[in-house]
Amino acid sequence: MNAHAHLRVENLVTEFVTRHGVVRALDEISFELHPGQIMGLVGESGSGKSLTGFSIMGLLDPPGRVSSGRIMLGNKDLRLINAEQLRQIRGNRMAMIFQDPMMTLNPVMKISVQMIETIRAHRQISNTQAIDECLQALKMVGIASPEERLNAYPHQFSGGMRQRVAIAIALLNKPDVIIADEPTTALDVTIQGQILGVIQNICRQTGTSVIWITHDLSVVSGLADQISVMYAGRIVEQGPSASVLSQPAHPYTRGLIRSVPSVNHPHERLYQIPGTAPSLALLPMGCAFNPRCERSSLECLKKPDFTDLSPTHKLRCVHPYLEPLELTR
Ligand SMILES: Nc1ncnc2c1ncn2[C@@H]1O[C@H](COP(=O)(O)OP(=O)(O)OP(=O)(O)O)[C@@H](O)[C@H]1O
Ligand SMILES: [Mg+2]
Repeated sequence: MNAHAHLRVENLVTEFVTRHGVVRALDEISFELHPGQIMGLVGESGSGKSLTGFSIMGLLDPPGRVSSGRIMLGNKDLRLINAEQLRQIRGNRMAMIFQDPMMTLNPVMKISVQMIETIRAHRQISNTQAIDECLQALKMVGIASPEERLNAYPHQFSGGMRQRVAIAIALLNKPDVIIADEPTTALDVTIQGQILGVIQNICRQTGTSVIWITHDLSVVSGLADQISVMYAGRIVEQGPSASVLSQPAHPYTRGLIRSVPSVNHPHERLYQIPGTAPSLALLPMGCAFNPRCERSSLECLKKPDFTDLSPTHKLRCVHPYLEPLELTR
């Protein structure tokens, strides 16, 4: 399983050139994922989670562009290879799963044809072996009687099953990294749980690492090894899941955790972080969260650097909470 490469993103900056100037949409994103690890990338809508995924995959649409930083997959910097080499890596060493499985699936093609094409685009293998691998992938994601289902069209599957097929396709070439962009938000909670379980098992078994993008901390809390919290295009807190969840130090992370519905008090009114997320084109000065923050002071008008809470847990905040979180609900 250690044959898989590890992903290291260093100071990734993504910009949009607009009529009103250059908008820095991602500001020095850094993280590291070892084989078989799962990272939850969490934040409110518009915080730059999908942009991070697209930037890594080389799928940004103009006028967006990665303007600096390194995206190291093993010893290759994906920013320094040509378009053809990147195409070879995509769908093979790295795959993306989208919220809408129809971004992956072609409605007029049988599942079998799409799956075999995905394999053949990267590997020369016999038809029999390709079919065998397709069946294995469908089994892995929990699709019953895969022999029959292989010959179906996407519309013949339910939403949850369609997403499983999209995941099976992402798995076909045993990638080093899967970027899953809110792949379960459209599904009901039970099916979400099942699919998360499937992904976690596969990572552990195959050594594939996963970036799981979500706005819902509760989704990744039982699943991820590490959590990166994004706000306004920046990572504001990052560390092992257990540490971030039990001792969230950034006021924004605390707010996110407090706004997760509690199983024990399902009918209680939920906490909401006051205010709304800023536009990336008009970021507040300094710490972008400061206008919404209960701890904000004049010092917050200067952009905070990362400080270490522990050797693995870091955050950008000059007024961190240092005591463990006690939920008073
Ligand atoms: N072509 C573009 N030009 C300018 N800004 C853009 C462009 N595309 C995206 N953005 C901005 O980048 C920001 C981050 O978008 P992104 O889609 O990554 O957010 P997200 O965290 O995935 O949100 P969501 O949870 O809603 O999916 C958004 O505020 C969006 O307005
Ligand atoms: Mg998104």
